[in-house]
Amino acid sequence: MRRIIRWLDDRTGAGQMLQAFLDRPIPKDIGWLHTFGSALLFLISVQFVTGTLLALNYAASPGTAYASVRYLQEHVLFGALLRGVHLWTGSAIVLLIGLHILRTFFYGAYKYPREVTWLTGVGLLLVVMGFSFTGYLLPWDQKAYWATVVGTNIAGAAPLVGQLALRLLRGGTAIGAATLARFYGFHVLILPAAVVLFGTVHLFMVIRHGIAAPPRRRPLVEPLRGESARDWYWREYAAEKRRGKPFYEALLKDALVAATLFTLILVLAQRFGAPLGPAADPNSTNFVPRPEWYFLDLFQLLWYVKGKLEPIGTFLIPTLFILLLLALPFFDHRRERHPLKRPVATAAAALAVALVATLTYLGATAPAPGGAGTSVSSGPLTPEQAAGAKLFAQQGCVNCHTIGNLGGNVGPNLTHVGSRLSRQQLVDMIAHGKKAMPAFKSLTPEELGQIAAFLQSRR
Ligand code: HEC
Repeated sequence: MRRIIRWLDDRTGAGQMLQAFLDRPIPKDIGWLHTFGSALLFLISVQFVTGTLLALNYAASPGTAYASVRYLQEHVLFGALLRGVHLWTGSAIVLLIGLHILRTFFYGAYKYPREVTWLTGVGLLLVVMGFSFTGYLLPWDQKAYWATVVGTNIAGAAPLVGQLALRLLRGGTAIGAATLARFYGFHVLILPAAVVLFGTVHLFMVIRHGIAAPPRRRPLVEPLRGESARDWYWREYAAEKRRGKPFYEALLKDALVAATLFTLILVLAQRFGAPLGPAADPNSTNFVPRPEWYFLDLFQLLWYVKGKLEPIGTFLIPTLFILLLLALPFFDHRRERHPLKRPVATAAAALAVALVATLTYLGATAPAPGGAGTSVSSGPLTPEQAAGAKLFAQQGCVNCHTIGNLGGNVGPNLTHVGSRLSRQQLVDMIAHGKKAMPAFKSLTPEELGQIAAFLQSRR
């Protein structure tokens, strides 16, 4: 064994490189907050391994997808655990990427010379969101199916490119075999390639520039007269490294965090697993879709901006947010990195965090979906209308009909149905159905009246 190692080392110089890598000095104050990045690298590797194993057991077509997942879950050794780990790791990645971005932001670590690191990081954020969105559909259960109905409808509501995006995402107008093939292809081919690409550049940049030292209120070295900000930066970073510590000391923290996270994920996966509901049924009338927790904020937001304003919530705010992130290192030129010396930036970020947390909380606690019952309405409701709104959600009307900006597009958009149909026409339609519109025979006349009253309020 020794001889083999020596032979390899002699031919490749790996030992020397590794030693130089581990011993290279990094700033002294690199601490626990700096472990998010390495934890993400670790968790993404976990996804590659578990994802590959899942793919070996998966048959991507509407006729077989659900059965193959069910089989894996029930009959393959560790199959349920495997799904659980993949799901919980996905959630952990979203959470950690948020923390990682916040840490980078508050430390001002996106500034010179790390702009490219930041840009590839934003790229990785988008890729992770893409993974969540496409992965959600693959089990092909009710939740997967209806969340994708809603999600693709949201994309379809974007101005100008919306309908095109909808067609491209679905591979047609409805969600079916083409949609599943596309989502699967994105999930296992295109997005992993993008992760490798962005991730490699990201990591290479981190190694090249060294880990950013936590910001100081007072500079470590004073600028020389006539010295450019950049030269000053490098001189200060060199000083940080001189009084720094070797990289492997930070690596020990990284390893500890990764091991703890993985243990936690194993426990969660074992305890809660990955849910698998009833198989997707495009004709079902009583399923209310809920998004994954990290989309709850967006989902909730969509209930506040409706009608003509709808594209603001579905398109403008998310797009502006991403553009803002991308542009950040370019309009924020100041050298100052300490959060207390950047009060506007710090306050803005704190506000954004509070907003996302509040929306997520409201989205999580609102009656499904995303506040139906109160918020599918455009104004204050009478008790009769409110009862109707609740029934509208419970009976699964949203699966086929859009109201405001959420819902399916199997049936007509009901946002303004009150100005189109009379109360009696509404009652008749719901009670007797018409073509693809099912008859809701189990509803009492009173309930029918309530739903009709609610729909009448939508003008
Ligand atoms: C399985 C899908 C589906 C479900 C679930 C569903 N609908 Fe429909 N609905 C349709 C279709 C399709 C039409 C169009 C029927 C036609 O005219 O051919 C329609 C038509 C309607 C119309 C007439 C709209 C118009 O502009 O003419 C109303 C009102 C309506 N549905 C209300 C409801 C309500 C209330 C519920 C829940 C209790 C519900 N629907 C559940 C598919 C559905």
